[in-house]
Amino acid sequence: MSLAVNCRNLKKRYGDVVAVDGLSFSVSRGECFGLLGPNGAGKTTTIEILEGLLTPDDGEVDVLGLRWKTHEHELRQRLGIQLQETQFTDKLTVEETLRLFRSFYDRGPTVSDLLARVELEAKRRSWVVKLSGGQKQRLSIACALAGAPDLLFLDEPTTGLDPQSRRQLWSIMGRFRENGGTVLLTTHYMDEAQTLCDRVAIVNRGRVIAMDTPQALIASFGTPTRVVHEGTLEDVFMSLTGRQLRED
Ligand SMILES: Nc1ncnc2c1ncn2[C@@H]1O[C@H](COP(=O)(O)OP(=O)(O)OP(=O)(O)O)[C@@H](O)[C@H]1O
Ligand SMILES: [Mg+2]
Repeated sequence: MSLAVNCRNLKKRYGDVVAVDGLSFSVSRGECFGLLGPNGAGKTTTIEILEGLLTPDDGEVDVLGLRWKTHEHELRQRLGIQLQETQFTDKLTVEETLRLFRSFYDRGPTVSDLLARVELEAKRRSWVVKLSGGQKQRLSIACALAGAPDLLFLDEPTTGLDPQSRRQLWSIMGRFRENGGTVLLTTHYMDEAQTLCDRVAIVNRGRVIAMDTPQALIASFGTPTRVVHEGTLEDVFMSLTGRQLRED
């Protein structure tokens, strides 16, 4: 079975709102696949259906060749999930939070290894409530990696991060993929999608309106009439502020 995700004709409505309207796509093993689309397009609803957190009104979902109805325990062990907004327990430290997440899984890296991967060793004993937004985001990635997952779901993992933390997250994902991992992510940053994703689906009003490699989509839709690209503001920001992460 070479597909990590295969969903067909997914539908989900909330009262009168049709959030997902007949959505189909598949993700190969080892691939990084991006779900792109404006606010309210149905990305989070779709990803939460795939994560087994929401039940679709219609359609079929296979994840790692398995179905949620029959293989929930195995799927929970093999998936890493980062929600669009994670609420951690404020009464735990960073280390205790990771120990808790690690305890949910039969296998996985040590807590020290997880801390090192997201460069939060210096915050090991800090209360979660005291972390900055970017540090919390990195903690949530570490939690998603706690069970050495085969498939990682990341819902806007870099929203709100500074460019240093964003690049750091890209390298964490790169390492995960070098070890054979599959990633399904959402992002509003097109440069990020272009850099990270093998293929993307552009979703609008609950439907896929385009799906291909970023290069193919750019070739067919994105030809500008004038090309004036002499570096980006992000390049300036990175060269002036350096690549190292900011901790205090
Ligand atoms: N629990 C809910 N109850 C009612 N409506 C909901 C609920 N969750 C989502 N919706 C609606 O479903 C639609 C799709 O929402 P969804 O969160 O999936 O979008 P999204 O693509 O993730 O957007 P964003 O980019 O803002 O995160 C929106 O119109 C939203 O208002
Ligand atoms: Mg969302």
